[in-house]
Order: sequence, then structure tokens, then C-alpha cells
Amino acid sequence: MEIVITETPEVAAILAADIVERALTTIATPVLGLATGTTPLATYRELISRHVESGLSFVAARVFLLDEYVGLPRDHPAAFRQVIAREFTDHIDLPMTGLHSPDGPAADIAGAANDYERALADVGGVDVQILGIGSDGHIGFNEPSSSLGSRTRLKTLTSKTRIDNARFFDDDIDQVPHHCLTQGIATILEARHIVLLAFGESKACPLTRAVEGPITAMVPASALQLHPHVTVLVDEAAATELSYADYYRETFENKPHWQTF
Ligand code: F6R
Repeated sequence: MEIVITETPEVAAILAADIVERALTTIATPVLGLATGTTPLATYRELISRHVESGLSFVAARVFLLDEYVGLPRDHPAAFRQVIAREFTDHIDLPMTGLHSPDGPAADIAGAANDYERALADVGGVDVQILGIGSDGHIGFNEPSSSLGSRTRLKTLTSKTRIDNARFFDDDIDQVPHHCLTQGIATILEARHIVLLAFGESKACPLTRAVEGPITAMVPASALQLHPHVTVLVDEAAATELSYADYYRETFENKPHWQTF
């Protein structure tokens, strides 16, 4: 894993945007995997400004979201598809047909999960996957105890995740759904390049367990250690518990071609 500690989330967002921009400019039909939540917003803002100011184009891209709530109407403002449109894709030139998300409101959830796996396979998989990490160590909505071999499926959210996400539901935990449809850990690991972002002190513990702890289903993000190409971009606050922080800094500073993550 390449672990890069940046002074601020904004610096990390620029590096993440560089990775996405490279995919957009070197791959004929790039497939981007996107997370929702607060962590990647600075990266999306950076990409929007590159689109507006320098003409960075998403016209040939396809976007696949990691997850969607089950039990929310499609037009609910906190539904992940609505969030990503509002925060990102409505502001770039991604074609309307280019945005894919698990169909959380579907009547047949198992069928929707299979359809999503098929849609991912049809485009040949994800080129660059942006990930955040939950305070309980989840990626996507693969909560602790998720199988490391899991594929897209229905999951029950932990109460920790529901409490964390109540901020998107007027701080009312009763409004936060109990279930979601999420890419599985094995699905996520098929992306060719994974960029994990973690900012702020609340992420210091799960991040450290993910990158320096043992691989375990109890910390789903630790499965990323099995992937050959993961870039972990963290700010100083999220890096405080890393025992090898100095080594990661030294590696990054001495990397001759660090821009080619
Ligand atoms: C969202 C997702 C989640 C979040 C994680 C961190 O699509 O899959 O894994 O990335 O819960 O959320 P934030 O960034 O809000 O702290």
C-alpha cells in the first residue's frame, strides 16, 4: 500500500483528483467508482473546477457508486444517487446514462444486486475506485463481520454507522435506514486502482487498524492489504496513530516518480 500523509484534506484531494484525471485522459472509456459521504467531497469539488476551468471531460466516462440505502424513495435528498448528482455529476459533462448505482428501492433486492454485478462486469470493471472508511472500519457498507469474499448484496447497517450518518437525516437516527445494497468486498477489490481517503481524528483508529493491523472481517477495510495497487491518502489528524508514519513520509519524499501513483 502507498500511504501518503498530507498536511490537509485539500492537498490529498488534489492528489486524488490527479489520479482520476490521469484515468480520464489515458483510458478510452474510463470507469470511475465513487463513494459518497463527506470525505471525497473535496476531491469532487477539485474535479468540478478542473472541468470548468480546464475542460477536463467526463464525456466518455462511466460512474459506479458503491452503495445505496434500501428503504428510501429514489428522490430522497439523502439517497446516494441524489447526493452524488447534487455534489458532483450534475456539474460535469458525464452523460445522463453514465451514472450507475445499486437499485436500493428495487422490490427484488437480490435481483438488483445481481444486475449491478453484471453491469460492472459488462463495462470491464472499475479503473479507479475512490473509497472512504467508516469509523467502524467499513468500506462501501461492508460492516464488520462482512465476508472478505462478498459480492453486491443487502447488508444491515451497524448502529454506529446509523449514528454517524444521522447528520444526513436532520440528526434524527430514526430516519436512517437499517439496510443498504452495497458492493461486496470482493467486488471492490476487483477495481484496478483503489484510492482510500481518510481525514480527521475520528478516522485515526479505523485507518490504523486497516493498514497496519491484521486482515480481518472485523475491519473490512483491512482487506485492501490484499490488493496490489492501493493509494491511501490521509491528513495529519488521521495519521496520528500510525506506527510507521515516519517511514511512509520518507518513502513519499524519496519517491522519484511519486506523481505516477
Ligand atoms: C459511502 C460509503 C461509506 C463512506 C464511509 C465514510 O458511499 O461507501 O463507506 O465512505 O462511511 O463516510 P464519511 O466520508 O462521511 O466519513
